[in-house]
Amino acid sequence: MADHTQNTPNASLYERLGGAAAVDAAVSIFYRKVIADPRINLFFAEVDMEKQTDKQKAFLTMAFGGPHHYTGLDMHQGHARLVTLGLNDSHFDAVLEHLEATLGELNVPTGMIGEVITIAESTRTDVLGRSVRDSP
Ligand code: HEM
Repeated sequence: MADHTQNTPNASLYERLGGAAAVDAAVSIFYRKVIADPRINLFFAEVDMEKQTDKQKAFLTMAFGGPHHYTGLDMHQGHARLVTLGLNDSHFDAVLEHLEATLGELNVPTGMIGEVITIAESTRTDVLGRSVRDSP
């Protein structure tokens, strides 16, 4: 009988990772890594902490392939201020590094970490403001 537990082969990546509980488990580890990293923590300096936790949850939900309401345009607009401050590929790479390390600490299997990174990677041009700017 089909069900939607994390052991079901056809379950979404988000479900296989453990859904909202997995996001909650990952969020504090991930956030700690991000704000401790001098390569990127300047971007978070003026951001309200409470809003930031919601943002990190939205980030992780999205990266886990879960339900979210973000589009390329939202990703572009949500980071436009950061792009004016110099947000670039090196910063994006640092965030992916922390995402990968966080999931590793939580013993997420390598294959699923790869799926998460692929999803996160798919937002790169939008986050860095390229796709919208370069459109006709
Ligand atoms: C995998 C790529 C990324 C995803 C999926 C992502 C996701 C998000 C989301 C969902 C928001 C909230 C947007 C809103 O509703 O306003 C956001 C905002 C934000 N992101 Fe990202 N993000 C990514 C990469 C980055 C990078 C590389 C940085 C900086 C190193 C960053 C820093 C921030 C900051 C500081 C905000 C808050 C902006 C503000 O309040 O002005 N993000 N991001």
